[in-house]
This record gives sequence, C-alpha cells and structure tokens, in this order.
Amino acid sequence: MTDRTTPLHTAVIGGGSIGIGFAVVFARAGFTVAVMDPDPIRREIIPSEFAAKLRTLASHGLLQESLEVLEARFAVHGDLAEAALGAQLIQECVPERVELKQALFASLAGLTDEKCIIASSSSFMPTSVSAKDTGVEQRILVAHPGNPPYAIPVIELVPNQLTDPAIVQRAHYIYTQAGMSPVMVNKEIEGFVFNRLQGALLREAYALVRDGAASVDDIDTVVRDGLGRRWTFMGPFETADLNTRGGIASHAEKMGPSYHRMGGERGDTSEWTPELIAQVEAERRAMLPSDQWDDRTAWRDDQLLRRLAAAEANKSVL
Ligand SMILES: NC(=O)c1ccc[n+]([C@@H]2O[C@H](COP(=O)([O-])OP(=O)(O)OC[C@H]3O[C@@H](n4cnc5c(N)ncnc54)[C@H](O)[C@@H]3O)[C@@H](O)[C@H]2O)c1
Repeated sequence: MTDRTTPLHTAVIGGGSIGIGFAVVFARAGFTVAVMDPDPIRREIIPSEFAAKLRTLASHGLLQESLEVLEARFAVHGDLAEAALGAQLIQECVPERVELKQALFASLAGLTDEKCIIASSSSFMPTSVSAKDTGVEQRILVAHPGNPPYAIPVIELVPNQLTDPAIVQRAHYIYTQAGMSPVMVNKEIEGFVFNRLQGALLREAYALVRDGAASVDDIDTVVRDGLGRRWTFMGPFETADLNTRGGIASHAEKMGPSYHRMGGERGDTSEWTPELIAQVEAERRAMLPSDQWDDRTAWRDDQLLRRLAAAEANKSVL
C-alpha cells in the first residue's frame, strides 16, 4: 500500500522501460509513486523489475535508503482512476502513439485536480498535438528524459503555448528535487534538443559510412575514445570555447569557414552569422570570464586524466 502522507505523490502511467525508470527516480527522491499499466502480464513483472533496478543502484552505492523503504513508496495499479488519485505530478510513459496519448490525457482531465501537473515523456510528440482538445492543455508539458532516467539526469521541459508558466516552474522544481537536471526547450521543435543533437551526429555518421570514409566501428571509436571523453563533463560550446585561445569567438573565426563547407557538402548552408557568434560568445563569457580561461583548460585536462586513471584502475580490477 502506498503511503500518501509523504510530501509529494506521483503517478506513472505506463510501466515499460521509461515508466519503471521514473518510478525509481521518484521513489529514490522520497516521493510516493503509483504505477499504472493496463497489461496484467506487465503488472506482475513491474515490482521485480523495479526491485532489480534498485539493487543495481545500491550495488554502486547510489541509494541512500534501504530497498524496503523505497518499495514501501511504490504501488502498481491496473485502474487509471486509482493510480491518478491524489497525484500532484503524473508522468505519462505510454507508447509513442498519438491516439493513445490523446485518449489518456482526455481521461486524466476528469480524474485529476487542476493543480496536478501532467508530464509527457514523449521523445518527439509535442503536447500541442498530443493534448489537443483534451482539457489539460494548460497543465501539461513534455518532460523528456534520457534512458534510463535514474542514470541520465537531464530532462527536457517543453511547454506548449497554453501551458501555465506556474506549472512549468513547479515541474522544474520537482524534477530538480528528484535529482534531475531540467532544461527548458522554449519552442515545440521536433526532437527537442536531445534528439536534435543526437540526430545531427547520427546523420553525419551515416553519411561517412555511406561515402566509405570510415567503418562503423572506427566512427564509434572516434566518439568513444575521442569526442565523448570531453562530452562526459562538458558540452560542445564549452569544448569549442576551451579548444582555442581567445575562446569561442576565435574558434568560430578560425574553424567557421571549414565547418560551413562541411555543412554545404551535406546540403546545410546555414551560417554562423556575426550576430549569432556574438550571442554565443556573450553567454559563454557570462559563464567563464576570459581571465579564467587558463584555469578552466587546466581543469578540463585534470577531468580527462581523472577519468583515464579511473578507467585504468577498473581495468586492473576486472
Ligand atoms: N525508450 C526510450 O529510450 C525513451 C527515451 C525517452 C522517452 N521515451 C518515451 O517514453 C514513452 C514510453 O516509452 P517506453 O520505451 O517506456 O515504452 P514501452 O513500450 O517500454 O512501455 C510502454 C508501456 O505502456 C503500457 N501501455 C500501453 N498502453 C497504455 C495505456 N493506454 N495506458 C497506460 N499504459 C499503457 C504498455 O503496457 C507498456 O508497459 C514513449 O513516449 C517514448 O517515446 C522513450
């Protein structure tokens, strides 16, 4: 039985891989969580999958509380009304099919109170489509996780044009409380930011294989043993900013024409205009004033070496 006296009660609708992942995130944060799945076979398996993920987290020293405490916050339901009862945040995790999501949101309109946040895990479908004419447009947003959400903290929050800003703010607060890193996506663009960045790299990787420029394994090696080493602790803007003395503006001046030609080969002729570079430069300098550039590059090198040393130490253990 779920204890509903704890500060925040959540419901997860759809107990597949993402749903169980969120159940772990919420229970780990001290929230109670009711998981709903219409499939009786799934419902039988969900508790053992949940417990297995908790045990894995515990084996890495990533749980502050015992399995029993976390399991007591968790319940499984076959009935939507029961699962939604009293929920302050509902995380929708049903398959990526518009008719399923629309029907669910229309049902939730009548089952939840107007302060309840409805968050869609959708990877591609904006809520202006999935929640159209369902009655929950003002309290719904996309909250798109990585997979699994308990190991990848970023979560993209994408409101639609009708979403109440107070709902967005509250969702941001709740995911932060749950140990996640919420980011705002200000427009309902397809793929949001996560999959757009992933897509840009995948498109080029496919093109390189098609053109016979490199093998699949070698391209994976370039990311795993190259680009990805820095990306475990900083993003592409910080990487470029630290790669060239003078920061990102200098990087754009030196490398911009070459990147522009590479884009042109793929049919992308968009430019890094002086205004765009100035905007990026201003945001970066607000994060890292120029006089701290040397210290930060030393920090980057230290981060890379720490990870290298940890990987070497692991190798000798294995
Ligand atoms: N898998 C990923 O890598 C990933 C990453 C981020 C976001 N997402 C998104 O998360 C959502 C769920 O994806 P998943 O990979 O967990 O799918 P999944 O197929 O593993 O799980 C979906 C679950 O929903 C249940 N379900 C089906 N119809 C339902 C209904 N009407 N009401 C309640 N439950 C229902 C199914 O029984 C199943 O257990 C999708 O929108 C997907 O795009 C997936």
